[in-house]
Amino acid sequence: MTDDEMKSHWHYLCKKSDLSKGEKKEFVLENGEIVLAVNVDGVIKVVSGICTHRRFHLVRGALTGNSITCTLHLSAFDLDSGRPLTPPAEAPLKVYKVEIRDDDVFVLV
Ligand code: FES
Repeated sequence: MTDDEMKSHWHYLCKKSDLSKGEKKEFVLENGEIVLAVNVDGVIKVVSGICTHRRFHLVRGALTGNSITCTLHLSAFDLDSGRPLTPPAEAPLKVYKVEIRDDDVFVLV
């Protein structure tokens, strides 16, 4: 476990049942971070909700398989690594650890 993980805490995000397959929603965490939660084939993935290129909200993007494409300049990001798959974005999205407890989704912040 890293030092950052030791200082981190699990935060409740939403009900898993609130996100059906292929659906995405934006949430604002208690610390003000904006995150994007996505249901990819039944697996909940959570990444930073703001594009690293020009800070556009990715909830307005297009979900294709395991990537989200920003609609402003079409950078796509991998939802597991956060890496940009296409330019112009160069910096990765933050990827949050997710834990499902019963129907509750928690993220490590
Ligand atoms: S703001 Fe997302 S690609 Fe430019």
